[in-house]
Amino acid sequence: MNVLDDRSDDRVDRSTYGSSGAGSVDALPPIREKDAPDAFTAWCRGALFTPEVVRAEGIVQRYCDAQLIRVFRSLDLDECLRAPRSAREIASLLRLEQTADVAVDAALRRLAKRGHCAVEERSDAGYFRVVADASTCNPEDEISELSAEMVALGEDYVSALDFVKFGADHFLEALRDDPDLLDRVLSGKEPRFADLWHRATNVDPLQDLHGRMGAHAACDLFDGGVALEVGGGTGNGTRHLLGDLARAGRLERIERYVFTDVSIPFVLGTRREISKLYPSLACAWQFLDVNKPFASQKVAPASVDLIYGVNAAHVACDVVAFLTECREALRPRGRILFAERVRRHVGEMAPRELTLNLSRYHRTAAQRDPEVRPDHAYLAPLHWIRSLERAGFERAQILPDLDSLESTFPNCYATVVTAVRGS
Ligand SMILES: C[S@@+](CC[C@H](N)C(=O)[O-])C[C@H]1O[C@@H](n2cnc3c(N)ncnc32)[C@H](O)[C@@H]1O
Repeated sequence: MNVLDDRSDDRVDRSTYGSSGAGSVDALPPIREKDAPDAFTAWCRGALFTPEVVRAEGIVQRYCDAQLIRVFRSLDLDECLRAPRSAREIASLLRLEQTADVAVDAALRRLAKRGHCAVEERSDAGYFRVVADASTCNPEDEISELSAEMVALGEDYVSALDFVKFGADHFLEALRDDPDLLDRVLSGKEPRFADLWHRATNVDPLQDLHGRMGAHAACDLFDGGVALEVGGGTGNGTRHLLGDLARAGRLERIERYVFTDVSIPFVLGTRREISKLYPSLACAWQFLDVNKPFASQKVAPASVDLIYGVNAAHVACDVVAFLTECREALRPRGRILFAERVRRHVGEMAPRELTLNLSRYHRTAAQRDPEVRPDHAYLAPLHWIRSLERAGFERAQILPDLDSLESTFPNCYATVVTAVRGS
């Protein structure tokens, strides 16, 4: 059997999806009114980027800085950086694992931007040193105050801080003593921290809004057919998409929902939940590695109408190669739609990367390219557009219109990346 359906037992086929029937190869229709970003931007502004979200985002930014200062004090880096040193030198002094300098560099660049240290760019690397007044701030007080502010916004928001705190608390352990720790946590293979990761991807409203955005856009832009989700993980994207379609009375638009991930525990867990909620929906549950050719994983060329992902597409090592695979798998006029955190500025570390950068796959998997991917993990909007164009997509768009949100949510980090396969 190639594909597991809802009624199968707890096995997940590692080969899987194949579907026949390419759609008709018509000329691409003109851009429809609903492709215009204005309505989506208005919805985001009104329904999603609430004052609480904007406030919580600001809190988590400052909380990350305070936790980073705490970490670097605990590592005695104030002393170590009296002379300029690169992240690689620091990692070596601390006897961190081979690629830990990526995490150290990102963290120090973030602190440098905020004046907690200075960075001097040399031809081989950035060199960091302490600045005179950096030692005066007290991160513990700041952490307590910010925690209280977040509690006042609601318990769910505290999940965002808990995830950052986890990284600060496990910084040395994850980069030196147990370098697989975060990879296990992020792939559902570390039961001790399964709840932490589940809350960080589903309960935290700052993360949950990625799934809400993806679902809202997909409801509008997906006319029906086979939907394939990449990196579906603990199901945030699936839950929102199916929920929105069901509420809108459009669930029957899904001819088949193909949920994929590289983590079998995640696939099984999400399958259990979704099968209960939508027992009659035609689903397939399968292993799919976005770094491998789709056809060799039995995703047939021209067999899918929507490739969907929530905070998953950026895990691809070679983003253009991955998008090219997506394009091949899509039927003519099929669409990719990825809800993605974006970097607004090159080299800018997101707060949750204090923790994510402790995972090898997050910090090292990306093949960097100055044109399309200068940083690891998250891409900037411009880099998504360039990557999509290189992969041959048409009508590449980033939603919402970030420029018009500048006055209300200048640090808006959440977008939907979408584009269409031509004929
Ligand atoms: C940030 S999580 C997002 C999960 C889910 N979409 C959500 O929003 O709840 C990224 C997901 O990508 C998966 N992943 C990591 N490497 C992958 C790969 N090479 N191919 C496919 N999925 C991968 C992880 O297992 C994880 O579930």
